[in-house]
Amino acid sequence: MNLEYLSGFGNEFASEALPGALPVGQNSPQKAPYGLYTELFSGTAFTMVRSEARRTWLYRIQPSANHPAFVKLERQLAGGPLGAVTPNRLRWNPLEVPSEPTDFIEGLVGMVANCASEKPAGISIYHYRANRSMERVFFNADGELLIVPEQGRLRIATELGVLEVEPLEIVVLPRGLKFRVELLDAQARGYVAENHGAPLRLPDLGPIGSNGLANPRDFLSPVAHYEDLKQPTTLVQKFLGELWACELDHSPLNVVAWHGNNVPYKYDLRRFNTIGTVSFDHPDPSIFTVLTSPTSVHGLANLDFVIFPPRWMVAENTFRPPWFHRNLMNEYMGLIQGVYDAKADGFLPGGASLHSCMSAHGPDGETCTKAINVVLAPHKIDNTMAFMFETSQVLRPTQFALECPQLQPAYDACWASLPATFNPNRR
Ligand SMILES: [Fe+2]
Repeated sequence: MNLEYLSGFGNEFASEALPGALPVGQNSPQKAPYGLYTELFSGTAFTMVRSEARRTWLYRIQPSANHPAFVKLERQLAGGPLGAVTPNRLRWNPLEVPSEPTDFIEGLVGMVANCASEKPAGISIYHYRANRSMERVFFNADGELLIVPEQGRLRIATELGVLEVEPLEIVVLPRGLKFRVELLDAQARGYVAENHGAPLRLPDLGPIGSNGLANPRDFLSPVAHYEDLKQPTTLVQKFLGELWACELDHSPLNVVAWHGNNVPYKYDLRRFNTIGTVSFDHPDPSIFTVLTSPTSVHGLANLDFVIFPPRWMVAENTFRPPWFHRNLMNEYMGLIQGVYDAKADGFLPGGASLHSCMSAHGPDGETCTKAINVVLAPHKIDNTMAFMFETSQVLRPTQFALECPQLQPAYDACWASLPATFNPNRR
């Protein structure tokens, strides 16, 4: 199937899989075309200011309300509750893809979170591993999902249409959107940020101007596509951190037409217009922000999704790797491919690291020594894509994350090899 996409960010899109399925001139006519039912899918409070409001009108074969009671599932999300608080820097090797049959939901494992599930703000971060397509359909009542594939292509069938993504692309699924993740390769692995706060949007550009970073037209949403299937389908939801399920006699991916701006979308990270210094020093990593979820405090993010893409390094008289730093913000990093320029080893594709509020970090000893002594010339950092989920509230690891064998016991040692170079007699 050759997929079509609608291009743009925050647009009021309209799409119909049958001609004339979208009512014209009103949202909820007495009789919708083709005998469809009308349903509002509302992603923000009704009274949200217009620039923030997200909602989509759906024209579907059966309304979502047609379902029996949900029953709490015996098998809950992996990862367990949050573990002990730790100010320590943590790093994990990649989690292996299980050998037993595992779909996207079974393979989701919670790693860190900064809020209880019932709170309307904060984020939770998961890794996913899967070796088979979902047969059930899922929706998340607890937040928006930002999926970052590291291995394997995904076909994500949603209520609003089908998206295909591969590593170096990301997909964002609005809170409550029903979807099914199918694998296009033997296995899949990656990261998920669950955003409990304000929906992700493009960052403001300030003095950068009206272009640059992620450009709106590179965000792609699906066109309407429906399943008219009268077959038993399990619908699973996550509600306040728990998995609940009910059995339907039809596919809930049965929206024939829709219009609105509460939509899933994908973005190819290779299209990011990377901006950096052309003189000396380098800007804060916020220059690499793809998407942001703001808090009510202007400039303080609930979630920033930041990437470290291939780019030219040309700064003169400059220590070029990320500097040593201690931040207010909390950083959970992942690696999609290649090598991250601040670490010589130990940070692998599929792995992760956590640097919490005011925990000191930066380049490891080997990278630092090399950067101080290298003869500077224009140099391209290539074949790499690291990223960061950055958040203003401290992230606590789950019990799983603290106890799993992938947790590296000696992460601190990567800074122990920094040589003592201070000499008061030599400026
Ligand atoms: Fe950092």
